Parts: sequence; C-alpha cells; structure tokens
Amino acid sequence: MAAYIPDEKITAIKNASDIVDIVSETVSLRRAGQNLLGLCPFHAEKTPSFTVSPDKQIFYCFGCGAGGNVFSFLMKHSGLTFPEVARSLAGRYGIDLPTRNLSPHEKKKLTERETILTLNGNAVSYFRDCLLSEERGKLAMGYLLKRGMTRKTIDAFKLGFAPDGWDHLVRHFRSSRKPVENALQAGLIVSRKKGEGHYDRFRNRIIFPIFNGQNQPVGFGGRVMDDALPKYLNSPETPVYNKSRSLYGLDRARRKCRETQAVYVVEGYFDLLSMHQFGIENTVATLGTSLTADHVQILKGFVGEGGKASLVYDSDQAGIKAAQRSVAVFQKGLLEARIMVLPTGHDPDSFLMAHGPDDFYKLAEQSMGMIPFMVESAVEKHGLSIDGKVRIVNDLKPAILAIGDPVARSLRVKHLAERIGVDETVLLQKIKRTAQPSAKAAWLNGRLGKVNAPEPPPVRGKTYRLEKQVVAMMLQFPEMIADIKRRRLMDHFTDPLLAEIGCGILDHFTNLDSDIAGLVSRWDDPQKKTLVARLSLTDEHWDRDGCMNLMSQFESSIRRRDKTLLKRIEAAEKSGDAHLLATLLREKQQQARKTMEKHSGGNH
Ligand code: UTP
Ligand code: MN
Repeated sequence: MAAYIPDEKITAIKNASDIVDIVSETVSLRRAGQNLLGLCPFHAEKTPSFTVSPDKQIFYCFGCGAGGNVFSFLMKHSGLTFPEVARSLAGRYGIDLPTRNLSPHEKKKLTERETILTLNGNAVSYFRDCLLSEERGKLAMGYLLKRGMTRKTIDAFKLGFAPDGWDHLVRHFRSSRKPVENALQAGLIVSRKKGEGHYDRFRNRIIFPIFNGQNQPVGFGGRVMDDALPKYLNSPETPVYNKSRSLYGLDRARRKCRETQAVYVVEGYFDLLSMHQFGIENTVATLGTSLTADHVQILKGFVGEGGKASLVYDSDQAGIKAAQRSVAVFQKGLLEARIMVLPTGHDPDSFLMAHGPDDFYKLAEQSMGMIPFMVESAVEKHGLSIDGKVRIVNDLKPAILAIGDPVARSLRVKHLAERIGVDETVLLQKIKRTAQPSAKAAWLNGRLGKVNAPEPPPVRGKTYRLEKQVVAMMLQFPEMIADIKRRRLMDHFTDPLLAEIGCGILDHFTNLDSDIAGLVSRWDDPQKKTLVARLSLTDEHWDRDGCMNLMSQFESSIRRRDKTLLKRIEAAEKSGDAHLLATLLREKQQQARKTMEKHSGGNH
C-alpha cells in the first residue's frame, strides 16, 4: 500500500508525529495512569473506553475494538488513504516526500483532494478580494455591515463576494492556468447545458467559505442580497465536502466547546456569525440539513465526557420538528441534548442583535432536555382530556423507545406517567405492547442512517486465551521475547492471526526496543493492527515470575492437547468413526511435522 513512499520516509513521519497531538485535535483526552482516555470517535459511548498510549504511540478502544497507530487513526477518522495520511503528516512535520515515483493514475488519485482544497483556497482569496475591492464589493460590504457584521467577523470567517456575471471565476481560473476539470470537481463552476463552456456557480452572492476541523476550505455557501430565490446556494458534495459530516464554524468553535463542555447548534450562516460575534463561540451550524449521527460523534469529540449540546430553534414548531427528528440521533449517539426555543419571530441572529448575549444566556438556562420538551409541547398541543392523553402517549412513544438505557427509559416513563396523570404500569404496557421490534427498527433507521455498534466477540476457548496472553506478554514485557524464541512457543499457536502477529513481533523487536507503532505499520490488515493495539494496552501487571509462569502454563497446555488428541484417536478407533479418525490422524501428523521441524531447524 505504501509502495510509493519509501520506508525510511514512513519511519521518519512515524517518529516525528505524536499520536496524542493528533488525536487531541478531535477527541478530548484526560490522563488515566500511563495512558490517556476519551470518548471514542468511532462509536457511541458515555463512559470513555478510547485509550491512547503516549509511550507506545497507539490507540485502542475497549468499547468497539478500533485500534492502531497514528496512521490508522487518521485513515479511520478522516477517510483518507494511507498515502494521503502519510503526505499530510509529512507536510505537517516538514518532511519532504518524493513524488516522482508515482504513476500518472496514482498521482491523479492522490492529489485529487489536495487539488480541490488548493483551488477552494484560491477561490476563498478571490471572493475575498472582490468583497474588499472598493468598487466591486461596495454593495456586498454594505449588506454585511447593515446586518451588523463587524469587520473582525468578516475577516475571521473570510467572508467574500461573488460578483454579478457568468464567468468571473471561470476567467480567474483560466488566467491562473487552473484546469477546468478541477474547478468542476470542486463544484465552483458548472458546465453549460447547451453548447460548450462553463459558468460560475456562485453569482452576485455573499460568500461563506466552509472549513473542516483542520481549517481546510471544503465548500461554500452563497446568499443573495435581496429577495431572489434560492436565498442560499451551497457547494455540491465533492471528494472533500460531505454534508453529513460538515458543520459551519467547526474550526473556530473547538476551543470554547472544550472550555465549556457545551456546544450550541444553530441552523443558519448568519446565526452562527452572530453567535461568534457576541462571544458565544461554542456554536456550530448545520446548514439546512438535519443533524446526522456523524455530526453527533464530531460534537461529542469537542465537548468531551459529560458534555452537552443545545439545539437553538427559532420557534416552538421548528423546535418540536427538530426534536422529533434528532432525539433518536442523540439517544443513539449518547450525547445529552437540550432544546432552546427563542421567542416567536426570532432566530439566534435576530435575537442577539435585538437583545444581546445576556438575555440569550438567560433563555439558555431555561432550556429543557429533548424529551421533557417534547412532553410539554404535546401537553400544550393535545390537552389533558382522555383523548389528549392518548395522543400524547402516541406522540412520545417512538422517542421513549429510542432510549437505549433501560434505567433512563423507565425513568422517562415514570415522569410522563406523573406529568399526565396516568398509571405508570398501564403506560408502560401501552408503550411496550405497540412496540413492534420491526417498527422501532424502521423508525430508528429512518432517522439514524448507520450507527456503529460493536460486534459481539466470537466465542473462543482456553487455548486462544492463553495464546492471546502470550502475545500480550511479548508486547508489554519484551524482556521475555528471547525466551519465547528459544522455547519455540510460536510453533504451537493454533490461531493463525495470533501466530502471524507473534512471528511478526519476533521478527521486528530487537531485544528491549519494543517499537509497537512500527510493528503496527508492518501490516495493511486492520484486524492485525487492532489486535496488536488491544493486546499492547491490556490492564495487566507484568513481572518476570508471572511471565515464566505463563510460559509454563502454555507449555503444559500443549502437552495436554497432545494427550487429548491421542485419547480421541483411541475413541474414534473404538467407535469405528472412519471420517473422524482420518481427521484426527491428519492433525496428529501435522503436529509431528511441527515437532520434527522444531528439532531439525534448531540452529538458525
Ligand atoms: P433561513 O431561511 O432560516 O435563513 O435558513 P437564515 O439563516 O435566517 O438567513 P437570513 O438571516 O435570512 O440571512 C436557515 C439555513 O438553511 C439553509 C442555509 O444554511 C440557511 O442559513 N438554507 C436556507 C439553504 O441552504 N437554502 C435556502 O434556500 C434557504
Ligand atoms: Mn436569519
């Protein structure tokens, strides 16, 4: 996989990079003994099981089993390929990489994202120059100032202006010799339907560049300055812009989200700008799409363990709709969420402009949890007549069923029963009885898309456990590696994956230097990377006596296995099961061959 980046460069990148730095950019970590601990960015969890080892430069999640080194983390987290990750790390740490060995096709694929990002960056500057130009940008700048945006906000968010006309950007790219295909791929220009040629996607619009968490320009939004439609236009999905993972303002919200362990989620561009301008910088915007499971995981990384999100909506109705849409996403994502409703007629932007941040914070204090909010809304809507109560229960059923934790779920049922004056057991029955599993699943799927659930581990026996422990010992107490080699324990491994990892360790480790992150790089197979990470981070105390003990235990289990095999062969002979006998004899032969090899090959 890494064929076109020389090994010594990979090693240099690996040595230069620090996994704690890289992971900390997206996951809030706290110290826990020798390791650091945080909420896993790869699955939904409430108690941290995502472990990062600064010594070993690896990570492992004891919840979902994701694991590996700094390369695997970035690949999994950003969806980049190995060469892309290597390249971006190399750039970050100032390591030069040769490119001349790439085939044209490889080169094309590898640089596609980089090209789009560069082109987007170029467009950011172009739109910005237009906005700042006295003459061209006059109206646009006037519009922004009229809406209360300060020069500081305009600069910080690199706002811009796409001038009126069909091909300003097309010509700008042409004059700087940028290939048309790249601009098309970036979604900045569009092919004419009839005839040849291209035109600008954004025309006569205020431009809002959208940055990802690494501060790279991934897309754009554009607003008209009058009542023309559509009011907003956004970049299409591109290799660098994925709507279900992007949030406007993400790059500037991180620090304050960490500090306050809270994030506000608003809907619009101007809402976000005003929030930041009034110092409420722990705010991101969803930009017209509803919140996805990916968004929730990203926000969780920002607010950390025990953090919470507040959805800010401009009316009861919008709030109710949003709560209905996203309650399951938050439940599944295990992020505490509240709903904050602004007075009728206001969105966060207009509210802040009219009342300022103090009133905003006062309202924020009154915001309710998602389900209590839905309960109150339903009570208001349906009233507490008998019919009303039936409707309330029906409205709330899907949201309550989406609560994964049984304790939390039964507490919700209890509260609802008390609030509307219905017997708790009756309510419970009603909610349970009508909960067809398939209906519930469909409801969840419709709202969630994919959610990563850890797969149940395969059932394995005592031999597997012992083999795993031996490998864990090699990783965590490398002093024993020489002994393991001498006693040839690896020859008796039954699990092929563990055997391969074990042999890899023997091959890779020199005496006391256990470079585990380097070992992880040996394999492309994510299963192996994960297993190495996991076995390196088990919470065990190793000492010499314990290790000696484990090795003897392993050896006696080998002997026991041999004995059992002989017994089974005898039994198969007695019962006349020819098929079983053949299988067992084959197994015996294999063992004999191993032992022979062991004795004949003892000198190298
Ligand atoms: P709103 O219509 O509530 O606009 O759309 P707004 O954000 O308050 O904008 P201003 O204050 O009138 O300028 C909310 C968000 O929905 C998306 C945009 O992201 C917008 O900010 N949207 C809206 C679109 O993508 N396209 C549209 O045509 C309208
Ligand atoms: Mn608005």
